[in-house]
Formats: sequence, C-alpha cells, structure tokens
Amino acid sequence: MNRKIAAITGISGQDGSYLAEFLLEKEYQVIGIVRRTSHKNLSRIEHLISKYGSGENNLDRLILNYGDLSDSSSLKKIISKFNPDEFYNLGAQSHVGISFDNALSTLDFDTLGVLRILDSLREIKSDCRFYQASSSEIFGNSPPPQNENTTMLPRSPYAIAKLASYHLTRLYREAYGMHASNGILFNHESPKRGLNFVTRKITSQLAEIAVGERKKITLGNLEAKRDWGFSGEYIQAMWKMLQQESPDDFVISTDETHTVRDFLNEAFSLLNLDYKDYVQIDNQFKRPSEVPELLGDSTKARQILGWEPKIKFKELTRMMVVEDLKEKFKDRQLISSEEANIKEDNFYINKAIKLINN
Ligand code: NAP
Ligand code: GDD
Repeated sequence: MNRKIAAITGISGQDGSYLAEFLLEKEYQVIGIVRRTSHKNLSRIEHLISKYGSGENNLDRLILNYGDLSDSSSLKKIISKFNPDEFYNLGAQSHVGISFDNALSTLDFDTLGVLRILDSLREIKSDCRFYQASSSEIFGNSPPPQNENTTMLPRSPYAIAKLASYHLTRLYREAYGMHASNGILFNHESPKRGLNFVTRKITSQLAEIAVGERKKITLGNLEAKRDWGFSGEYIQAMWKMLQQESPDDFVISTDETHTVRDFLNEAFSLLNLDYKDYVQIDNQFKRPSEVPELLGDSTKARQILGWEPKIKFKELTRMMVVEDLKEKFKDRQLISSEEANIKEDNFYINKAIKLINN
C-alpha cells in the first residue's frame, strides 16, 4: 500500500495531537517533529504512541524525530529523509501575552521557522503541500466580522510574526508555484488546550474550586470578545485545504463571538455558581495592547472546502468543564475506575454540585 506521508511540527501541542490522530485514522504515515525538552512533553499523544508506535520499529506508522523551528538543518534532514507529501506547520510560540516578553524567540520560531521550512521544501521537495497555521490575531484592531479580505492590523509580537509568515507562505506560492496555504484560524479550544489560555485556565481552575483546592481565579481583561470553536473540528479544515487542487487562504471560525465574561458565566452557571463570587482581576494578566473583538466570517471555507463547525460556544464550554472535572475527580480518587467510564456529563456536574454544597 502506498501510504501518504505527512510531517507535523507542533505534534505535541493541542492541534498537532488532534491532527495526528485524524491523519493516522486516514492511514497516513505521520512524521512528528518534536523539540528536545528536559521533561517529557508527549502527554497529548501518548495514546497515539501506544497504538501506532514512535519510530522504534520498522512498521510504526507514527515516527517521532527531534527537530526545532530555530534549526534549519534539523528541518532539512527530516524533509530529505521522509519526503513528505504534506507538511503541516503547527509549531509555534503560540501565547499572545507571552510574546510581549519573548518577542525575539516568538519571531524566530513563528516567522523565521516558517521561512526555514519553506526554503527546505523548495530545495528538496517542492511538490510537497504546505499548511501554515496562521491566526485571526493578524486582524488585530480591524472591526468585525473578519474574513480573508479584511485589513490586517496586528497588535502583538505574536500577531506580527504570524502576519509575516502569512505573507511568506503567499510569496512562496506565487513566486515558486508551491502548494502553500494559510489557515487563518480563529480561537479554538478543547480539553487538551494549554492551561494558560483563558478558556482552559477557567475550566481547570473551576474544577479546583469544585473540590475545595482553590477559592479564586485571577484574570485580566474580561471584555475581550473571541470566536471560540473546537480544535478537533478545526484540524479537519487544515487537511481539507491541502486536498484542494489549488492552494489558497481560508478563514476558519464559528462566526459567533462571546466575551471572556460570557465564558465565565457559562462555565460557572453549569455548577450553579455565580462567577462574580470567585473572580478577581490582576493587571499582570492584561496585555500592553489588546485585540478587542474577533468574529470570523468563514463563508469561503464553507463554500469551497465544505467545512462547517458543529460544536459552538455552549457545547464547547460544557465539554471543557466536564473533562476537567473528570480529571480532577480521578486525580483526587473521588470516583472509582468504573465511574470514570461514565459518559453522561450530568454525572460529573451533579457530583461537583454536591461537593460544593457539602
Ligand atoms: P500549542 O498547544 O501551544 O502547541 C504549539 C506546539 O509548537 C507544541 O507542540 C510546541 O512544542 C511546538 N513548538 C513550540 N516551539 C517550537 C520550536 N521552537 N520548535 C519546534 N516546535 C515548537 O498550540 P496550538 O493551540 O496547538 O496551535 C497550533 C498552531 O496554530 C500554532 O502555530 C498557533 O500559533 C496556531 N493557532 C492556534 C490557534 C488556537 O486558537 N489554538 C488559533 C490560530 C492559530 P512543546 O510541546 O515542546 O512546547
Ligand atoms: N491567557 C489569558 N489569561 N488570557 C486572558 C486572561 C488570563 O488570565 N484574562 C483575560 N484574558 C483575555 C486575553 O487578554 C484575551 O483577550 C482573551 O482572554 C483570550 O486570551 P487567550 O486565551 O490567551 O487567547 P488569544 O486570543 O490571546 O490567542 C489565542 O488565539 C489566537 C487566535 O485568535 C491563541 O491560541 C493564539 O495562538 C491564536 O493565534
């Protein structure tokens, strides 16, 4: 069988782990590019390593290689060795707030890293299809709704880095005829979201409140509006972009927007709590310049890719609250191993409500 080969940077991250699973289920061979860390950073893909291996055996369908976006030679070696048909560049310093403090490395990974990959592909395998993880952050101050034709007014080092790499991707497409596409994805979340992004910070700390480990959540700007979707659905749009005959750029979003305050209200209300009793504000979590409102218009993706998100704000919030409660109950041995298999959300929500009221 002639399997397609896909390389993924950022496979250990939220999106990379969902995309790897999706491609492995489609019979791809997946080459995961991971950076060297002193602690194991593969918790999001352990289940895939158990099922598909990590490259130690010849028949493994998942092969992990050390590589770093700051190291051209590592990227070149991987591309020459595996000759991928598709390359998904999801690796990045992805935290907007932290990019103000780590601007140089953010630009190195998020802009120069993209250039390093594009150049290596051009030299070694120019017919490889390339996906660049671009971001709605590039719209910055532009009024909503935002689509592919909206003016880009970035407001952070991260957004500037992503805007430069968006243009590099277009340049390599236009100048060298490469099949290189930008997915301009609006915020997307999941139970695998990093703990310092606002949605997961809220749901993980709400679970701590439910079991009595925490009294308060400390946040920054509650008025910012975001268009929040589910990562597990957004990675399907990435794949669809690379299956198109011609490369292009697409906005991917739910086309709904909500404030951080709305998210708090939705999450706390599930446990019959008033978020105002638990939230405190600290300026350290506010940014030097903020993006006030992101609201996507994904008409183009819906029409051309036939992609449409099913999971919207309420369902996403509930999914994240329930998964964090489940994990917390397991860690604290508050549920038996049989109970941990219960699928009904209400079991975990009702248990949390009982704990809070005791
Ligand atoms: P994430 O969970 O933060 O994952 C980022 C990944 O990049 C991790 O695997 C990380 O490795 C890897 N990485 C960081 N620096 C690297 C380097 N120097 N060399 C190699 N790998 C490196 O991010 P995500 O939410 O999955 O997002 C995936 C991509 O989409 C990112 O490019 C992000 O900027 C972009 N994006 C995300 C959203 C969103 O709402 N999630 C929206 C638009 C665009 P470690 O595990 O070792 O840290
Ligand atoms: N992280 C964080 N922590 N954000 C907070 C907090 C807090 O304590 N309090 C308020 N916020 C506000 C931020 O100021 C921002 O307006 C909003 O919550 C969302 O913040 P994040 O969850 O950190 O996401 P983001 O919108 O800045 O960036 C995410 O989405 C981009 C796409 O628009 C990231 O995933 C980026 O990688 C992605 O490109």
